[in-house]
Amino acid sequence: MNIRQIQEARELYGIEGWGNGYFGINDQGHVVANPTGEEHISVSLPEVIEEVRKKGLTAPIIIRFPQIIEGQLQRMHSSFKTAISDNAFKGRHMGVFPFKVNQRREFIDAIVESGRKVAYGLEVGSKTEFIAALGYKLQDDALFVCNGFKDAEFIELGFIAKAMGKNVVMVVEGPDELEMIIARTAHYKECPDIGLRVRLYSKGSGKWEKSSGEQSKFGLTTTEVIHSLQILERANLKEKLAMLHFHIGSQITEIKRFKGALKEAARVYAKVIKTGFQPCYLNIGGGVGVDYDGSKTSFESSANYTLQEFANDAVYVLMGVCDNEGVPHPTIVTESGRVIAAYHSVVVTNIREVQGADVNIDADTILDLEHVDPSAHKALNELRYIVNNMTRKNYVEYYHDSIVYQEELFTLFNLGYLQLKDRAVAEELYYRICRKALYFSGFERHPSEEFEGLQKVMVSKYLANFSIFQSIPDSWSINQLFPVMPLSRHDEKPNLKATIVDITCDSDGCLTTFIDRSDTKTVLELHPPSDSPYYIGFFLVGAYQESLANEHNLFGAIHEVEVHTSPDGEWEITKTTEGDLIDELLISRNYDMEKITTAYGDQLDEAVAAGRLTQEVRKQLYDKLIVCTKGYPYLSEE
Ligand SMILES: Cc1ncc(COP(=O)(O)O)c(C=O)c1O
Repeated sequence: MNIRQIQEARELYGIEGWGNGYFGINDQGHVVANPTGEEHISVSLPEVIEEVRKKGLTAPIIIRFPQIIEGQLQRMHSSFKTAISDNAFKGRHMGVFPFKVNQRREFIDAIVESGRKVAYGLEVGSKTEFIAALGYKLQDDALFVCNGFKDAEFIELGFIAKAMGKNVVMVVEGPDELEMIIARTAHYKECPDIGLRVRLYSKGSGKWEKSSGEQSKFGLTTTEVIHSLQILERANLKEKLAMLHFHIGSQITEIKRFKGALKEAARVYAKVIKTGFQPCYLNIGGGVGVDYDGSKTSFESSANYTLQEFANDAVYVLMGVCDNEGVPHPTIVTESGRVIAAYHSVVVTNIREVQGADVNIDADTILDLEHVDPSAHKALNELRYIVNNMTRKNYVEYYHDSIVYQEELFTLFNLGYLQLKDRAVAEELYYRICRKALYFSGFERHPSEEFEGLQKVMVSKYLANFSIFQSIPDSWSINQLFPVMPLSRHDEKPNLKATIVDITCDSDGCLTTFIDRSDTKTVLELHPPSDSPYYIGFFLVGAYQESLANEHNLFGAIHEVEVHTSPDGEWEITKTTEGDLIDELLISRNYDMEKITTAYGDQLDEAVAAGRLTQEVRKQLYDKLIVCTKGYPYLSEE
């Protein structure tokens, strides 16, 4: 046990900052989850992986902790409860979870289950999401909020939901949707509640800032709001206007942006009430940020406020405006998704190989690197000399000399004057010189730009057995940062600087930016490979990553397990779901597996007829092909 090193690892990977009380490193140097937020109830992630392997499943794997979902729902709800009681606010808080943040059934099941305790509802933005949501029986007054652009069929579903007894609010995006609602009232006994999505001038902050404000694609302008109120009045549906809604974007990094939007929305709410309408819900949207880098700042991967601060400000600002206008306090509806879902899942995978470190092959036994060979080209021997004689005093000059020798040798090879072995010796020597130069530059108080650049080129590439496009698509599409770290060996110094590449045939399938408390960094510190499997975890990936996943190279959904803890500190895997198998992925792309397997058989028969195979071998090969079609598309762990 190396307690000092373990503490260094906690700081290096910033786990106490972004872990939010759910993740840490134990005294054995293993990453642990604390799904209930209690320190004494912990789950060692390497042990979970061991259990998963016993079940015959291999990496990559998602480990889900449904208790973290419950914990986040509770934290949201109790933050509002505290703020409401501290301020003697007269309204209540009701949460809805936006389906699009993670539509996997396993996840929504957990949301619904945990949500029953705090009357949590669901928000949908399409007919498909609505159809799925309608299958869930929530607590009686829990809300079903329907956002998004709607056609007549979507609107009709709202009426059916109402007839089923659901507390449904159809939030209209434009007056045409209102007309469609009015047209249906003649055919149904009860009309669902109606909401208006208001376009605010106030903007969000961070990556989604541009999608909010006056130019947003969503929400009614003030004229459209007035027009909508007139339409409702004319249709005798005044009492059906139940909700005003706004959403200024996801991952709001600065609390002051929320405050500005809340002030503006509260004013609109109060003015609408003053025109004789009685909406009781003010839906303040989602957008609560997740502190992915643990810095607690307004940096785009962070958020400079806590959930409690968000709830306090929401209650305080809304109350101030409502009291000032003399209108009743609303029920505050939140639609936060990211902050509820992000923490609950971890993608774990194994490292298949390390490229670029002196680890894969023993170059000294393959090549004669050390001995000066009088018959070798002069430049090769110069490189040998530099490797052996580089010091802290001369490393800059020697490094520059080596560049010249290396280029000279490269040209000689292209002109046909050197053998393949000479080229290998030159590559290997030059590589060692760079490593040594970097080592010496590490002693400088301010390393030069040249050596910082060299550091980026010289990193080891860790080949991780997963697809970035499937498991963390936002890191590819919008440069979203997620905490990444090994699951074990934290009692050992991670002395290699690495980037991560995935197994897709795409050069974009790599991670070259990592979280850092004071900035971002271009390398991740990892341990050198050993004989045991090396697992790394991608954390805080529970929001949006599964819903935006794509099957680049036909790598599909990965295996998943759910882990629960009991009050006595025990944990168990309560559910295992296999990932997409190869034939399922092909079928989803319209391949006919019967046609494919028949074609295999025909081609093997031809090989038998031509005398290239015996019947016995034909059968073995055919059976192997069939087993492969039912396999996991990721690399096996052998
Ligand atoms: C209308 C609406 N509500 C809620 C959300 C959820 O936002 P977040 O996941 O940032 O909480 C979104 C996502 O951007 C949204 O568009």
